[in-house]
Amino acid sequence: MVVLISGTGSNMAALLEASKDPDYGASIVAVGSDREGTPGIELAGGAGVPTFVVPFRAYTDRARWDAAMAERISGYRPDLVVSAGFMRILGPAVVGRHPAVNIHPALLPSFPGAHAVRDALAHGVRITGTTIHFLDEGVDSGPIIDQASVPVQDDDDESSLHERIKEVERKMLVDTVGRLAREGWTIDGRHVRFGRTEHSVADATYTKENR
Ligand code: GRF
Repeated sequence: MVVLISGTGSNMAALLEASKDPDYGASIVAVGSDREGTPGIELAGGAGVPTFVVPFRAYTDRARWDAAMAERISGYRPDLVVSAGFMRILGPAVVGRHPAVNIHPALLPSFPGAHAVRDALAHGVRITGTTIHFLDEGVDSGPIIDQASVPVQDDDDESSLHERIKEVERKMLVDTVGRLAREGWTIDGRHVRFGRTEHSVADATYTKENR
């Protein structure tokens, strides 16, 4: 898999740790980012994983940046792209070429977008959580693979709540990516099932037509 990050990379680090076990079924071929010098990129580079950065600001428009990103990702021939704390929307050049999953710190379809934890707190929900889903052309809108809940505490602020969500996320991401790699998957409309039927990592062309 190619893992995309924008910041700390604690989810990526959890995948890196899990993939040290040969029975895990997946390994990281590269870590990419839209930002230079982030802790996550340093961490991956320090662990000997190839890294690349495609800075958003270096491109005149989103489509060109997306095409450059797709080019870099495809060079590693991944079976799966994992957006784990990647703060940019991936466009059709990437999503049309590779199966890609995203981890989002809320129970979708509630609170999509870049400020999910803040928005959930502001709304006063008592339970929030995290969602792992396939990417489609929308924002946090693709078919859901798994979700886990996290109760909101009375004295939570954005940072305390996000930290507790991230503890749950890391485990769910590791479990889900491992199962996708080992078992394959099928997407039927909005429903994702594990299992090597019409779609698996061995047959990893993910287009609108074969969803
Ligand atoms: C996670 O909460 C993820 O859901 C969100 O950004 C955060 C990334 O954290 N999209 P980290 O960089 O993996 O520590």
